[in-house]
Amino acid sequence: MFNKITVVGAGNVGATAAQRVAEKNLARTVVMVDVVEGVPQGKGLDQWQSAPIEGFDSRVVGTNGYDAAAGSELFIVTAGIARKPGMSRDDLVKTNAGIVGSVAREIARVAPQSIIIVVSNPLDVMCAVAMKASGFPRERVIGMAGVLDTARYRAFLAEAMSVSVEDIQAMVLGGHGDTMVPLVSYTTVSGIPVTQLLPKDQLEAIVTRTRNGGAEIVNFLKTGSAYYAPSAAAVQMAEAIVLDKKRILPCSAWLTGEYGLTDVFCGVPCKLGRQGLEQILEVTLTAAERAELHKSAQSVSDTMKVLEGNG
Ligand code: NAI
Ligand code: 2OP
Repeated sequence: MFNKITVVGAGNVGATAAQRVAEKNLARTVVMVDVVEGVPQGKGLDQWQSAPIEGFDSRVVGTNGYDAAAGSELFIVTAGIARKPGMSRDDLVKTNAGIVGSVAREIARVAPQSIIIVVSNPLDVMCAVAMKASGFPRERVIGMAGVLDTARYRAFLAEAMSVSVEDIQAMVLGGHGDTMVPLVSYTTVSGIPVTQLLPKDQLEAIVTRTRNGGAEIVNFLKTGSAYYAPSAAAVQMAEAIVLDKKRILPCSAWLTGEYGLTDVFCGVPCKLGRQGLEQILEVTLTAAERAELHKSAQSVSDTMKVLEGNG
């Protein structure tokens, strides 16, 4: 158990993540920080009052500043705004970069040894913003996207084959967007290659649905995006770190030559433990998967250029 975990942004993903962290007893204190007065305080109090029923001892508190977050071992950053009518994707990148940058500077000020899990979108670019603004090494700034995208892929596969989700082993790599790379060549059902169990056209349809997984939910909700699965994904990463589980999960990591990619955040298989990102695993990809991974990383780099003023 950690002493303190702070979730920044008490919106849909942040508040649900805080609740999940508390219910798993991952920290003695769970702090929720948001700029909106009253919201983190109210949600924190409400969650804390669920403790006697759910049986957790994590004390959840909400605040508008960072004093209560001082010394947190782990931060989950979900702060940001959603795209508004009339706002371009580039405007959104710049606005959220300003928010995530200021959050990361506060984190570095109050908890210089902490680990940051970034959730805010556009995910891979926000990871780079957080790493630069915090000054943290790559081991302590990790992005959540691959766990979510893989969960969607696993759920669709389990449904198509009418098998338990627990028996689907898979990884979705690449940036968090429609260029993501579900690794069909490494997808198995209790060790059996999925290509032996599903026809090619059905597999391709599932890959396409996975790539559009976020948009599918937005189309239903209309005024917001997914948060149950995203918060579960972020907290699975948090749990791997808190419990030093050495789990191998697809996460966005700063690459320094792995997979032939440099100076970019991109989803790759990562080992997560108490030190944060403890290892990046380089696995053999098919030529097509490697090309797709490079294309996906290029799209992250292109979005980075918007921030550098070259977009
Ligand atoms: P939301 O709008 O419900 O919550 C965002 C919260 O951030 C709001 O409560 C807002 O007041 C707060 N906020 C804004 N500026 C802040 C600041 N400077 N400091 C602290 N808090 C601040 O949005 P939701 O649904 O919770 O999503 C949060 C972010 O996560 C979005 O950027 C979304 O696109 C992203 N996301 C990423 C996923 C991924 O796979 N990486 C999956 C789902 C969401
Ligand atoms: C998702 O994939 C919006 O990135 C978010 O649901």
